[in-house]
Amino acid sequence: MMDQYLSGLTFSIHTFGCQMNKHDSERIDGMLESLGALAVDSIEESDMVIFMTCCVREAADTRLYGQVSSLKNIPLREDSPLNKRLIAIGGCIGQRDGEGLIKAMPHVDVVFGTHNVGSLPGLIRESLAKHKPQTEILESSEGFSTDLPTQREHSWAAWLPITIGCNNFCSYCIVPYVRGREKSRTLESIRQEAESYVRAGVKEITLLGQNVNSYGRDLYGAPQFVRVLDEVAATGIERLRFATSHPKDLSAEVINRFASLPNLMPALHLPVQSGSNRILKSMNRHYTREHYLELIEQLRKVRPDIALSTDIIVGFPGEREEDFLDTLSLVEEVGYHQVFTFIYSKREGTPAATMIDDTPHEVIQQRFDRLVDLVQQKAFEANQSDEGKVLDVLFEGVSKRDVTKLSGKSPKNQTIHVPLPSAKSPEDFIGKIYPVHIDEAKTWYLAGTLQ
Ligand code: SAH
Ligand code: SF4
Ligand code: F3S
Repeated sequence: MMDQYLSGLTFSIHTFGCQMNKHDSERIDGMLESLGALAVDSIEESDMVIFMTCCVREAADTRLYGQVSSLKNIPLREDSPLNKRLIAIGGCIGQRDGEGLIKAMPHVDVVFGTHNVGSLPGLIRESLAKHKPQTEILESSEGFSTDLPTQREHSWAAWLPITIGCNNFCSYCIVPYVRGREKSRTLESIRQEAESYVRAGVKEITLLGQNVNSYGRDLYGAPQFVRVLDEVAATGIERLRFATSHPKDLSAEVINRFASLPNLMPALHLPVQSGSNRILKSMNRHYTREHYLELIEQLRKVRPDIALSTDIIVGFPGEREEDFLDTLSLVEEVGYHQVFTFIYSKREGTPAATMIDDTPHEVIQQRFDRLVDLVQQKAFEANQSDEGKVLDVLFEGVSKRDVTKLSGKSPKNQTIHVPLPSAKSPEDFIGKIYPVHIDEAKTWYLAGTLQ
């Protein structure tokens, strides 16, 4: 379909934040390309620049303002049909700040939110036709819009959103305010999409939601995530993963699927946030350290080789040294393959923003550094247990640091690097699974050789 305004324009999408944004970006890419616009890699070549923003962390706002203002110094390509580069801001800062972004940055042309990704082409047309900035922010989504064309970043991997939004209101978190209440997609539509991916040769599906374990509560009265797992696994997809899980809703049935479903990969991201019961309560997380460790024990019982990853916030209001030591001891006990570490940052409008927050910044920074040291040590130890083994690796491309190496993912989601065999090109491997002998463990990857 050709479009009077969009056809022939070049665009690039710059995505921050979580998989939800990455998936929305793939849909925007698909929509714009289906209207005749052309995706390009660099800002220099782009007639339109689209930012998909995140507001979980403070630095993101500052970074966005910096990036948007630096665009002024980059001239348009010579044969651009536009006389000024179009700038659009979407994602979670778009949703939160709306019109305010145009007030703060008058050269921004379009602002859209998280509930109306499908409106972007229309907003771009209006803005080009009327030479006026356009903003559209909706309070919530009508339903689960899944009918937009999607241009997947990799042909062999697909994100499959099963819920949008979040009902948990962890006291520090902005997500429920910018993504709305949790809405589930029907089982039928999830199965159909999964089947279409399998037919298209996709090797790996990742089910997505802020808390996939509560899937279906809104539609069926009770969580039905196991049914999603069973149905998607039954499509015969080679690798199945999901993110994110909330410890309060991870059921024994779901845990057992790690034993019974051979295509469910042995890796789980289970954010703990803190090891201190006092802090967990103040975070409104609805589980204890003991319950969390019990879940880990169950998971390891059914799938001894499962790789665990987590998110941890350091410096939550009122965190004392003893609370932090509880976090360190939990990390020690679990032995994560990967930990995403965050320093608490205040989000206006959340309950934690009104809590007394008097820990000096240096103390928090020192705690953060201590945590990162332990995390690295444990990640290295976890990887060492795979030395000498042969793992099936799904290849993704050449290594970013070294073009003579191929890079891919193990079932446990570890990054694997292997030398590219001579007389072969990366295309012989990309999107395919081959066995790799693991020669050496590093902190963040494994070095191996093709079998
Ligand atoms: N729904 C997912 C992801 C939420 S955002 C989940 O519940 O796990 C990703 C991570 O950002 C969170 O797990 C948390 O560790 C971190 N985060 C969220 N809000 C934050 C804040 N205000 N300050 C610091 N880290 C935060
Ligand atoms: Fe935020 Fe908590 Fe929802 Fe995750 S579960 S998105 S941390 S409110
Ligand atoms: Fe960020 Fe929005 Fe995701 S705030 S973490 S991009 S839901």
